[in-house]
Amino acid sequence: MTVKVYVPRDSGALALGAEQVAGALRTEAKTRGLDVEIVRNGSRGLYWLEPMVEVETAQGRIAYGPVAPGDIPALLDAGMLEGRTHALALGKPEELPFLVRQTRLTFARCGIVDPVSIEDYERHGGLRGLRNALEKSPAAIIEEVTESGLRGRGGAGFPTGIKWKTVHDAQGPRKYIVCNADEGDSGTFADRMIMEGDPFVLIEGMAIAGIATGATKGYIYLRSEYPHAAAVLNEAIAVARAAGVLGTSVLSSAFAFDMEVRVGAGAYVCGEETALLDSLEGKRGQVRAKPPLPAHQGLFGKPTVINNVISLASVPIILDKGGAYYRDFGMGRSRGTIPIQIAGNVKHGGLFEAAFGMTLGEIVDEIGGGTATGRPVRAVQVGGPLGAYFPRSLFDTPFDYEAFAAKDGLIGHAGIVVFDDTVDMLKQARFAMEFCAVESCGKCTPCRIGSTRGMEVLDRLKAGIAPETQIETVTDLCNTMKFGSLCALGGFTPYPVMSALTHFPEDFRPVPAREAAE
Ligand SMILES: Cc1cc2nc3c(=O)[nH]c(=O)nc-3n(C[C@H](O)[C@H](O)[C@H](O)COP(=O)(O)O)c2cc1C
Ligand code: SF4
Repeated sequence: MTVKVYVPRDSGALALGAEQVAGALRTEAKTRGLDVEIVRNGSRGLYWLEPMVEVETAQGRIAYGPVAPGDIPALLDAGMLEGRTHALALGKPEELPFLVRQTRLTFARCGIVDPVSIEDYERHGGLRGLRNALEKSPAAIIEEVTESGLRGRGGAGFPTGIKWKTVHDAQGPRKYIVCNADEGDSGTFADRMIMEGDPFVLIEGMAIAGIATGATKGYIYLRSEYPHAAAVLNEAIAVARAAGVLGTSVLSSAFAFDMEVRVGAGAYVCGEETALLDSLEGKRGQVRAKPPLPAHQGLFGKPTVINNVISLASVPIILDKGGAYYRDFGMGRSRGTIPIQIAGNVKHGGLFEAAFGMTLGEIVDEIGGGTATGRPVRAVQVGGPLGAYFPRSLFDTPFDYEAFAAKDGLIGHAGIVVFDDTVDMLKQARFAMEFCAVESCGKCTPCRIGSTRGMEVLDRLKAGIAPETQIETVTDLCNTMKFGSLCALGGFTPYPVMSALTHFPEDFRPVPAREAAE
């Protein structure tokens, strides 16, 4: 009997040697005459265990990891194909504590299915949302999404239902759905994981968005650093087209919807929705002034929905189980689940999807298991390079848009980067200014000039030159950038800078050069 063995094709697993593991297994199975079918799945998001190999047995799947190519002969000797024990055996993956504590709605299939098998997708609940959507009016679909409380997962947390309604109500001969897959934030990989591990959920979400708003064409704007995601997406789009999910008649309905992948050229600012549109139109990616909103005049001047990958990938379950079902998870105005990406100096780095409301401390200490170095956690940056640094004293902050804003922070795309007690927060603040200077699109003065002046001021501070004056100047500069910038690149750079200064003031009082020399 053929034994199915799952070896991820996810970039994270590939970086850790999954291709070589698959190769070793193929060769060894052939040599031993074993009947093995290797399925290249996505990752379940437990990156410290990748490459994680799973074997389908009579008792269900049994996982082994992290597997090196050289482990394969011994694993086969030990009876891996029957799910027998070995030093690398992890038991049933769904019983691993890191997965047991999660609420996987958006990532329900990720790491489980063959990403490019539409049959596997349907067997695991796929396409039910789209089928339900086709039974409803566009207004009723939007009502369901509004009811779910879903807010944009790209960073700004704008209600998805309202955005869709604006595009639905806008007049235009042609409308577009643009998926923002630029995923530029430090420590983030949720978009990539879903695109590589369950691309049909994104395709389904985009098709539902098209039907709801009257858009017939979709684009996925993908960062150039994601070649594996591009390959999986293109394969999945072709499969979806052949299966009639995409095309002139979506699932034999009166609705047409098709899509393609466009690859960016490597600028952080092209993740900002209007710069993204410029880039997609073949221009240099520069931020556009609003209004007009993209919902009114977006891609090629036409009404356009721009949504993050996770926002769109969350839609199928909402249309499958209902807005109220999704809304039941979460707290306050943060409804549903959020895929938290735990990264940096952390023991258990990976993807953790949970209902909003867990505290930062629970995520870092309990789920992440503290630092990889074993040293105390000193700071956690939440929300990418424009997010604030949180000290331990704020670890009781619940994962909720409003709670983070109340602490002068942001959730952003829910990436968290952990630092131990060796981190130099002045250096981190300087890095934030440098990042802004390098990535600035140059359109407005507070960002273009302010970030460079900010680096200079922090350099003077580091050199111990009139520290109080420098602190006053950088604070003033941050206010100018915050309130005077055209977009959040310049406008949010003050978050990492000021949070570092506020919560770690000791790092901003370096020993003056003179004293150090004495
Ligand atoms: C500098 C900058 C970079 C951004 N990068 C991304 C990104 O990589 N991915 C993303 O989805 N949103 C990004 N955004 C947010 C987008 O402008 C926009 O809010 C988002 O795509 C809307 O989708 P959502 O409502 O589904 O979140 C960025 C914003 C700024 C200011
Ligand atoms: S804040 Fe920076 S990136 Fe944004 S528009 Fe101004 S110059 Fe461009």
